[in-house]
Amino acid sequence: MIIYYDSLTGNTKRFVEKVKKQRPDWEIIKIVPKEKIERPGHLITFTIGIGNIPLTTTVFVRNNKDYLLSVSSTGNRNWGAHFGEAADKISKHYKIPFLMKVEMSGLQNDVEEFIRLVESI
Ligand SMILES: Cc1cc2nc3c(=O)[nH]c(=O)nc-3n(C[C@H](O)[C@H](O)[C@H](O)COP(=O)(O)O)c2cc1C
Repeated sequence: MIIYYDSLTGNTKRFVEKVKKQRPDWEIIKIVPKEKIERPGHLITFTIGIGNIPLTTTVFVRNNKDYLLSVSSTGNRNWGAHFGEAADKISKHYKIPFLMKVEMSGLQNDVEEFIRLVESI
């Protein structure tokens, strides 16, 4: 299993590190926006601006959308309806299945839910 992630301030990175502790055989790869990937995997990013997709993630998704099995976003519930909205937008615009939203770096139940959903696809 491959998890591609984007992270600016470290929350998403910390979340995928928690996933890695539970699933040591999964590959956790930080995206390089302009790179073309060759193996399918699940994307988790974060939400910026007011419900926006980070530019780095947009570039990566445009280059690699055919290899992305699902999309998730971290965020903060303080943003109300815009919580984790990057995942909704990516899912809608690029037709990538939506997986889940995670607040900040996620709690143990978020880690478990993420793993359960990834393994169900
Ligand atoms: C300028 C700014 C704008 C943000 N806008 C949103 C938002 O619209 N929706 C949301 O859910 N979270 C928003 N957040 C919170 C981040 O998405 C959240 O902290 C996320 O986990 C950051 O991921 P990272 O630490 O991996 O970069 C915003 C944070 C900042 C600093």
